[in-house]
Amino acid sequence: MPLQLPAHNAEAVEAAAQRLAAGSLVGMPTETVYGLAANADNATAVQRIFEAKGRPSDHPLIVHVAAGEGTDGWQSGVNHYAREVPAFAATLMRAFWPGPLTLILPRRSAVAAVAAGGQDSVGLRCPAHPVAQALLAAAARQGVYGVAAPSANRFGRVSPTTAAHVAEEFASLADADLLILDGGACPVGIESTIVDATRGHPVLLRPGMITPAQLEAACGQPVQSRDEAAPRASGTLESHYAPRAQVRLMDAKPLQAALDVLGSDARHIAIYAHSPLNTARGVVVRRMPLDAAQCAQELFAVLRELDATGVRLIWVETPPADTAWDGVRDRLQRAAA
Ligand code: TXA
Ligand code: MG
Repeated sequence: MPLQLPAHNAEAVEAAAQRLAAGSLVGMPTETVYGLAANADNATAVQRIFEAKGRPSDHPLIVHVAAGEGTDGWQSGVNHYAREVPAFAATLMRAFWPGPLTLILPRRSAVAAVAAGGQDSVGLRCPAHPVAQALLAAAARQGVYGVAAPSANRFGRVSPTTAAHVAEEFASLADADLLILDGGACPVGIESTIVDATRGHPVLLRPGMITPAQLEAACGQPVQSRDEAAPRASGTLESHYAPRAQVRLMDAKPLQAALDVLGSDARHIAIYAHSPLNTARGVVVRRMPLDAAQCAQELFAVLRELDATGVRLIWVETPPADTAWDGVRDRLQRAAA
């Protein structure tokens, strides 16, 4: 089993930073989801991430940088990896960093090639979680400029939002191979919004809790949606975030109609819905919060929990059409694909 340490303990953070500097893996809490972290400039260490996840090595990882001191304190981290930062990207950093926004920037050719999956760009994020920041700062003191960290789940599976989820995903790794910092449940709950800043104007690659309207308001430019030419992003593969049970999205009416027809045969189905529904006794029902941020926060934990009941199907009520729900809707559609 991997080693789990409570992250409020300064020695635990220091030990994790030392492991990063030495080339091994750390389970890192962030405000979005837990990341499986390694020194982004150590090709062997980054290779371990791909192996542990079972992720194809041409799928680029996000590199996390420390917030540093003062305004734009992340600049030294950013400049180490990015060849160039367009003005709109710098504006977005100032508006949303530290926070759940990843920017794809032109990569300096000499750095982080393995972490970038061979792309000539690099995804950068300065996370807001205090434990992530403490870890990045401690690692920086040991010469680590940035930490590559995809979500700490095996490829294609539901992202982890607690330390226990990470331990579950990588139960086969030994103490010495993975230290997980337990920073509690992630407050945002779904992965960062990703904006491509390599094409002269912002392009949304992955929706998250920072919406296009918020991005546009901050940078004063329209944000284009992803098109065919967009670079590969595994979070954008059609099927992803998938539990073992089959997930199906339905509106409240057909959902109720199907439950009525099945009656007590619906016991092999779990329900996640915001509308009140009539169900036979024994059917597992979780109430979906009416607030998008609350739903995002619990979403992956709920999918894991419902999956763990052993049901074969998880029926989820389609979230509201409002853009605040874009991130949640996207994850549910991929879980259902
Ligand atoms: O919230 C998050 O972003 C979490 C936490 C740990 O920071 N990380 C995360 O990483 O979601 P991951 O690897 O599961 O998803 C990263 C996404 C992938 O879809 C990847 O393809 C895309 O970012 N990405 C990274 N670098 C890229 C690049 N250079 N070009 C295009 N897409 C990139
Ligand atoms: Mg992921």
